[in-house]
Amino acid sequence: MNVVRQEKYRPSYHFSPKNGWMNDPNGMVYFEGRYHLFYQHHPFGTTWGPMHWGHAVSTDLVNWEEQPIALEPDGLGTIFSGSAVVDERDTSGFFEGKPGLVAIYTHHYSLPNTDQIRQYQSLAYSTDSGESWIKYAGNPVLEDEHCIDFRDPKVFWHEPTEQWVMVLACGQTVRIYHSPNLKEWVFASEFGHGIGSHDGVWECPDLFPLWVDGERSQVKWVMLVSIGDNPEIREGSRTQYFTGEFDGTTFVADVESEKVRWLDYGRDNYAGVCWSGIPAEDGRRLFMGWMSNWRYANQTPTERWRGAMSIPRELALETRKGTVALIQRPVRELDGLRTPVLSLTEPSSEEVQNALSALQLDCYELVAEFATAGDFGFKVRVSDEHEQETLVGYTSATQEVYVDRTRSGCSDFHEDFAGRHGASLGILPDRMDIRLYVDRSSIEVFFNRGQVVITDLIFPNREAKGLEICSAEEQVTLFSLELYALK
Ligand code: FRU
Repeated sequence: MNVVRQEKYRPSYHFSPKNGWMNDPNGMVYFEGRYHLFYQHHPFGTTWGPMHWGHAVSTDLVNWEEQPIALEPDGLGTIFSGSAVVDERDTSGFFEGKPGLVAIYTHHYSLPNTDQIRQYQSLAYSTDSGESWIKYAGNPVLEDEHCIDFRDPKVFWHEPTEQWVMVLACGQTVRIYHSPNLKEWVFASEFGHGIGSHDGVWECPDLFPLWVDGERSQVKWVMLVSIGDNPEIREGSRTQYFTGEFDGTTFVADVESEKVRWLDYGRDNYAGVCWSGIPAEDGRRLFMGWMSNWRYANQTPTERWRGAMSIPRELALETRKGTVALIQRPVRELDGLRTPVLSLTEPSSEEVQNALSALQLDCYELVAEFATAGDFGFKVRVSDEHEQETLVGYTSATQEVYVDRTRSGCSDFHEDFAGRHGASLGILPDRMDIRLYVDRSSIEVFFNRGQVVITDLIFPNREAKGLEICSAEEQVTLFSLELYALK
């Protein structure tokens, strides 16, 4: 086993940089058989610093190989978040008529001897399938002297109107721009006044269509917007979403979006956006987020490196009681990491307890289906003396699902880290599934087929490998339980 994988808290199957700091996923694009993941990276320190784009590639979304740094700071500034697209028809003219990759990112510039900053959008392109990048000589391509927080361009090709569309955060709104060639951008519209959460600065928007309930004739657009940390809001930074219509120019939110809706009910899924360039035959909308929170991101107790990505997830829209809502599912490629450990059908609590008490696992996937008549849950990453444990479960009286990391391990690095994070399910099914992914320093839980997701960092001791079922009541019915060790 290599040295990196033995480090305390080093994830086994989540991407983390070998060295240095990482935040947002950037420029996620699929091209010529490889998934690219770029990321906000400070290679010379383990706290946020002058931003570069780090780079990793994968052929299966799950096994990542770190590459040399893709973009470094230059005279125009440091390299903030952004996206990458496949320019199929060479609209940019960078590729001599062939398809190629273009990255669209924010240059962040601090004016010397002042505390003022400027943010503007720039391009870089790659003629060798993402191996190396050339910054466009005409940078920046989009500026606005009135908007200070002006960043995180997400670009896509809008087929019906045959043009590029950019969504860009501007203070506490999202602006939409058009371009025929990625180089010249024209303002189209602005979204966000009087709707959504304005608890912090808006960052990392994304906009994409999804079929409703898998019906190809029924399309809705989804807008993701991350909201920066605000010291007065307990949750720190988090991501909201809107559903609505988009005609190529204007995004109009549905009535259900008048109520704030969160992508994740944990604390550690931020700045996530979707992959571009996924072939139409695949048809999935693939998402990944940064597993941390600006509230304490710079203080988490890792050494040499800091920051990890969530597992890759597929996003979909489902109608529940007349309301269209976003659901998330772990991508099927994760199944390739499984080694089966247990598979029980309608076991008694005692049977499960006995089977689990014989195990010592730190990286695994657990899938269970149970009746919602009584309280139910698991204790994961339990230490021998029970001084460390993370609780995951469902409370029938309040119809709430939760993760409780109050005693999950190291948490004294920030006063807001320890705590319990819950969400109400709204309409209660008679039986519910719970699917959880545990790694050395994280837990991601998908409740009721991904209707509610809780993503939380945890920092247990390496030896805390116990797994227990917790159900006080005898009447709890467990229909099935499957457990897989992961990698
Ligand atoms: C979101 C963010 C972006 C910005 C980047 C800087 O986490 O604040 O808005 O581009 O991180 O690293």
